[in-house]
Amino acid sequence: MRLTIFFRLALLSFAWVGGASANSELYAPCATCHGEQAQGQRALAAPRLNHLDPVSLLLQLEKFQRGWRGGEGASAAAQQMAGSVALLPPEAAWPELVAWIADQDSDVSPVTVTGDRERGGTLYRQFCAACHGPRAQGNLALNAPRLAGGDDWYLLAQLHAFREGQRGRLREDRAGRQMRSMAAALPDDAALADIVSWIRAQSE
Ligand code: HEC
Ligand code: HEC
Repeated sequence: MRLTIFFRLALLSFAWVGGASANSELYAPCATCHGEQAQGQRALAAPRLNHLDPVSLLLQLEKFQRGWRGGEGASAAAQQMAGSVALLPPEAAWPELVAWIADQDSDVSPVTVTGDRERGGTLYRQFCAACHGPRAQGNLALNAPRLAGGDDWYLLAQLHAFREGQRGRLREDRAGRQMRSMAAALPDDAALADIVSWIRAQSE
């Protein structure tokens, strides 16, 4: 993970030198799918990004570029994103790009997933809170991204992708494999929607 450490250092020094100066040009090619404010666009299966921490964004961009996400056997959506890595600026500019994304703001997208919120909360505390935090705010020390504020349709799709082995299937992808085994441990498919509807309620 030498690359990751480099990114984190670069990110820190960037923030330290000048703050997150807006550079929307780096992001321009992404807006077609993820929207002008990185608010997401469901019709293209492109999720909201602006609620995520810069470090989480970097980790995922790195995975798409390495083919750990979006390779053979991945969902059509993940393959579409993997096909878009050519639009990324040179790696030296990634910290600036993700700082800009994390600086944007938008409302959480409308509720599209219905589930038993109460059961979801119970399952969340049992299976998820240790890594993603009691209110789904994420825990960078564990590489666990923020979930609160994410699109409910995207969270559900990712849980299915983990559970069905489309994401987190490579041996090198330790964080992905960890998450895959958590999704697989859930008692039934309804649990996925139940947990997502609880997570969605955290941003109300
Ligand atoms: C052709 C449409 C398209 C373009 C262009 C595109 N993306 Fe994506 N992106 C997607 C889709 C679809 C997903 C969801 C992948 C999945 O479901 O696994 C995604 C996922 C992501 C994720 C993962 C989010 C998460 O929560 O893990 C990041 C980060 C991301 N994109 C950043 C970018 C950036 C930065 C650019 C510009 C260089 C970009 N994308 C351009 C379609 C696109
Ligand atoms: C052992 C720690 C751990 C536990 C427990 C855990 N996760 Fe995760 N989760 C992670 C990590 C690490 C990632 C990032 C995976 C990656 O890099 O691909 C992740 C990613 C995710 C994502 C993808 C987010 C995105 O933006 O793409 C979702 C959704 C998610 N977790 C939901 C859950 C839910 C729901 C539970 C409980 C059933 C859970 N997680 C339990 C560590 C954990």
